[in-house]
Amino acid sequence: MDDIYNTTYLKIADLTGRHEKLNHLSWDELREIGKITGLNEKKIILDVCCGRGGIAKLYAGEFGCRVKGIDASKTLIDDAKVQIEEAELSSLVDLEVGLIPDSLNRFADYDIVICIESLCHIANRDHVIAELKRKVKKDGYLVIHDWIIKDQKYHSRVKDLLEKWHFPSLETAKSYVEHFEKHRIKIVRHNDLTESLIAFRKSLYKRCKEVKEEVERLLGKGSSDEYLSLVRLAKEYAEAGYLGAILLIGVPNFD
Ligand SMILES: C[S@@+](CC[C@H](N)C(=O)[O-])C[C@H]1O[C@@H](n2cnc3c(N)ncnc32)[C@H](O)[C@@H]1O
Repeated sequence: MDDIYNTTYLKIADLTGRHEKLNHLSWDELREIGKITGLNEKKIILDVCCGRGGIAKLYAGEFGCRVKGIDASKTLIDDAKVQIEEAELSSLVDLEVGLIPDSLNRFADYDIVICIESLCHIANRDHVIAELKRKVKKDGYLVIHDWIIKDQKYHSRVKDLLEKWHFPSLETAKSYVEHFEKHRIKIVRHNDLTESLIAFRKSLYKRCKEVKEEVERLLGKGSSDEYLSLVRLAKEYAEAGYLGAILLIGVPNFD
């Protein structure tokens, strides 16, 4: 994953004010997830694909819960550790490098298992969802926010974006719901976040163009071109109605 979330990506994330949060949810939307799932200092979260630690920092810092974060990228985990240390949250947050789903068998018994804007990168989601469910305690929650494709027939139209972003494929809203139903995870919240994805992509593209000069000054001429074209593609395909986003919050049934 270091090839996507590379120096240019991270520099642009910093310069566009995104820093540790590598997803399009607002901080308030993330807080709302914390409230719905009853986060407090007694709870422990597994943050699957935690990236640069923004979610861990928010939930440990504001709700006082403990967080175990795991991500495939050493660069991102190293950045996340710095964020967490600076926020003086090291006693609550534990971060490590690990590949999903292979590393999951080392974890168990979490009140909340959360995976934000990351399953898009991982194949065989039906299996991954079954594995994530097994990490949730009784009466706990599984939270997934992800990109979706509006219809399977659009896969060929967004092929270049899937290849460049290392998305093996995307789920539709319907196929995500079917995975949850198949694995007996009762859906308690199902939000279509396509409109906010489009708004975010538009503003991100605008901000990326604004910081282009600064990125090129820091990283060299032409360094931002590929990233800018990726951001533009995502914006255009979302605006064209091919791509969307959803939030699913479920409670696993173990009976
Ligand atoms: C868009 S970022 C989201 C990061 C974080 N969840 C957030 O919201 O800020 C996607 C993350 O998925 C991670 N990732 C992708 N495939 C992975 C895998 N198979 N195992 C673990 N992490 C993975 C990437 O390294 C990256 O940090």
